[in-house]
Amino acid sequence: MKIGLIGGTGDIGEGLALRWGLNTEHALLIGSRKADKARERAEEFARKLEIAGRKAKSGITGGTNEDVVKDSEIVVLCVEAPYVVATLRELLGVLSPDKIVVTPAVSMVRKGGVFLYAPPPDGSMAVQLARVLPEAIPLVSAFHTVPAHKLADLSATLDQDVVVLGDMKDAKERIMGLVAEIDGLHPIDGGPLVTSSLVESITPLLINLAIVNKRKNLAIKFV
Ligand SMILES: NC(=O)c1ccc[n+]([C@@H]2O[C@H](COP(=O)([O-])OP(=O)(O)OC[C@H]3O[C@@H](n4cnc5c(N)ncnc54)[C@H](OP(=O)(O)O)[C@@H]3O)[C@@H](O)[C@H]2O)c1
Repeated sequence: MKIGLIGGTGDIGEGLALRWGLNTEHALLIGSRKADKARERAEEFARKLEIAGRKAKSGITGGTNEDVVKDSEIVVLCVEAPYVVATLRELLGVLSPDKIVVTPAVSMVRKGGVFLYAPPPDGSMAVQLARVLPEAIPLVSAFHTVPAHKLADLSATLDQDVVVLGDMKDAKERIMGLVAEIDGLHPIDGGPLVTSSLVESITPLLINLAIVNKRKNLAIKFV
């Protein structure tokens, strides 16, 4: 599969690229507003995989966000949350119903030393993005509670659940499959996209728990 990571030069992009590069044979396409930056980061990720004793089996390449979308079957929106809607709008011309768009975006603010969930007026980032996308293009919401730094640390063992939400069964199942390909990430079906706010709002909770309890990289597991 060809997996494009839009804004994949950042933290969650790096984590996903390294973990999928470690274990799978997918082509990983790192996107950026600047092609040079994307290529440099792609080379850096490939080097990290080599140091870890692995080679990305199908390679990691970099390009502009637009070129990456054109060449990808899966499009993960890894850009900073405040810019994700505008970025998606810019990419509409190169998106089509045969591609699955994935959002890990969480909108939150820091106020008085704690993080608060700050959903857009539509109720969640996922629902807001769904309103921007043509109905025929599948949108799946996932990865909100996966701490990027731990994901990118290939020496770290993962053991956490990942809630995956979406209204199109096939698309959701494909993304659940991709989650399961990362060792230690366990996909769980979160139901329809309209409930994405429930999962997005867990992220500021995890960060606050980490700060108050002096813990790092907290994630979730349902028992
Ligand atoms: N960090 C985490 O632990 C984590 C966990 C779960 C979910 N998430 C979600 O994942 C998304 C990315 O988080 P992150 O921590 O990886 O972010 P990040 O590292 O701060 O930034 C990701 C990328 O966003 C792009 N970007 C920055 N400003 C932009 C703008 N004005 N327009 C378009 N693109 C811009 C940059 O790419 P270029 O400069 O290369 O274009 C940057 O590398 C967020 O929605 C976040 O809520 C993060």
